[in-house]
Formats: sequence, structure tokens, C-alpha cells
Amino acid sequence: MLKYLLVIVSLISFGSANDVFKTYCWGCHHQSAVAFGPSFTYIASKRNADEIKAMITDPKSVSKVFGYKRNAMPPFKLTQDELNSITQYILSYKGKN
Ligand code: HEC
Repeated sequence: MLKYLLVIVSLISFGSANDVFKTYCWGCHHQSAVAFGPSFTYIASKRNADEIKAMITDPKSVSKVFGYKRNAMPPFKLTQDELNSITQYILSYKGKN
């Protein structure tokens, strides 16, 4: 029973991460291909959760630290839940191509 519950919970959280991704990020980021911004596979291979969250909430200061010359990504005001789930979603692309 617990096992089914866990599956359902993870499906729901994955679903909402996918929504956040499609609503806010998809125009500029794709999962494995470079779009206007880098792909999630690339990001997951280089950054940890805190770095990803910092970039989403304060790209202006973080993109410099990451070595970008200019900052073309706008900041996002997400709920803590949305921020956590989109971060886990990005990190789930670690090692995928
Ligand atoms: C308007 C286009 C645009 C949107 C929308 C956008 N990004 Fe970005 N993102 C960029 C660009 C361009 C960069 C490269 C750095 C820069 O220019 O600021 C970037 C960089 C990043 C990085 C750091 C890349 C690295 O080197 O590790 C992360 C993490 C990131 N974006 C996550 C997101 C997430 C999550 C969303 C949705 C909530 C999102 N971005 C929405 C354009 C965008």
C-alpha cells in the first residue's frame, strides 16, 4: 500500500515540475538540446541544487558567477514547492543525453 502511495506522490510532483517547466522555462530551455539557454542535461552535469535555485531566483548575480558575460535570463518568483520540483526535474537529467 505504501509503495503505491509513494508512486502516486512522485507522479504528482513530477507532473507539477513538468508544468513549471512548460510554463516558465520551455521557451528558452529544452531538456537535452541547446535552445536560447543551455539544456537541462548540461545544467545537471555542472550545477548542484543550490546553484540551480539561486540562478532561478537571482540570475542577474548568479550568471556572472557561472561565467556568463551577459545575463539574458529573467528572474522567476516561484513558490518553494515549484522551485524544489523544477530543481529536482533538472537534476533528473544528470547523465542523460
Ligand atoms: C527568456 C529566456 C529564458 C527563460 C524563460 C529561462 N531561462 Fe534559464 N537561462 C537562459 C539563458 C540565456 C541562460 C544563460 C545565462 C544567462 O544569459 O543569464 C540561462 C541559464 C540558466 C541556468 C544556469 C545555466 C548554467 O550554466 O548552469 C539555469 C539553472 C536556468 N537557466 C534555469 C531555468 C529555469 C528553471 C527556468 C524556468 C523557471 C528558466 N531557466 C527560464 C534563458 C532563459
